[in-house]
Amino acid sequence: MTLAELENMKAESLREIAAAGAAADVEALRVKYVGRNGSIPALIKAMKDVPKDDRPAFGKAVQAWRAEVESALAAKGAGAQSGGKSVDADLTLPGRWRSLGVKHPLTRVIEESAEIFGRLGFTVADGPELENRFNNFTALNTPPHHPSQDRSDTFWFGDDCLLRTQTSPVQIRTMMANKPPIRVICPGRTYRRDTTDATHSANFHQIEGLYVDTKPVSLADLKSVLAYFAKAMMGDGVTVRFRPHFFPFTEPSVEVDFTCHVCKGKGCNVCKQSGWIEVAGAGMVDPRVFRHVGYDPEQVSGYAFGFGVERIAMIKYGIPDIRWLYENDMRFLSQLG
Ligand code: DAH
Repeated sequence: MTLAELENMKAESLREIAAAGAAADVEALRVKYVGRNGSIPALIKAMKDVPKDDRPAFGKAVQAWRAEVESALAAKGAGAQSGGKSVDADLTLPGRWRSLGVKHPLTRVIEESAEIFGRLGFTVADGPELENRFNNFTALNTPPHHPSQDRSDTFWFGDDCLLRTQTSPVQIRTMMANKPPIRVICPGRTYRRDTTDATHSANFHQIEGLYVDTKPVSLADLKSVLAYFAKAMMGDGVTVRFRPHFFPFTEPSVEVDFTCHVCKGKGCNVCKQSGWIEVAGAGMVDPRVFRHVGYDPEQVSGYAFGFGVERIAMIKYGIPDIRWLYENDMRFLSQLG
């Protein structure tokens, strides 16, 4: 075969491909020219019979032909190189739509809290959901007769293993593994033997906070940090109120209220007309807790707090029933995206 003949064959093949309409015709031409037994592979095989001097020019021309045929076929939608099947697709049909997911409101509250406390120098610490009695109760100055240790309140597995009832044991783990200064928050799952209703769930989430330092730490420090968090999380109009309370592991202890972000403190249905919403427990770390983790209460002081994540999410997004947070109903969740 001469180069001129080759050029003619090439021109003919490209004409045929250009004229082909139906996908089946395009596929037939693919088989005819570049398929396993097609004319172009056959020519390549026959190359050894071409006189040695003509081989380079001939080879080049065959490769150029192959490239042009393949791109002409590709333009027609044939799976030329892969040898795959061409598809009879109706390109006028609307595409298939995959909607984007949204982050769960609890995840959003946890991530936002980590970001806000991060600005104040807090890092995130972690601990297991399966705890022992020492971390969850004893070291937190909670005696065996305390009601929270009761089998009817806590999920026990034997005598020394339980599903943590609070994120406070992460305080103990963090202090035992580190030296002050310590500044951490600990978000995570917690468990209590509660009956589920609109505001209770046997499994819920908390965010613990702990600050311990060798320089004096005061209740005013705690209040300013929580006031900052309140505004960053709920908006500028929100202020913080401390009410005296009791927790075994803090002294003094307080319950923390935010002004109701719906009525701005005037009183409404959300805050049961009080103008305030309870969001956390907090206080100055009890000296007995420091002794349990091997710190000298004369040398260090600190504060701790624990938020309910569901609580914050329900207030922030106006969710009336805690169960909505666990049903994974996209009609609900996607409204919060
Ligand atoms: N662990 C407490 C609870 O679950 C909340 C709490 C109160 C955490 C006071 C604290 C704290 O760190 O200081 O009810």
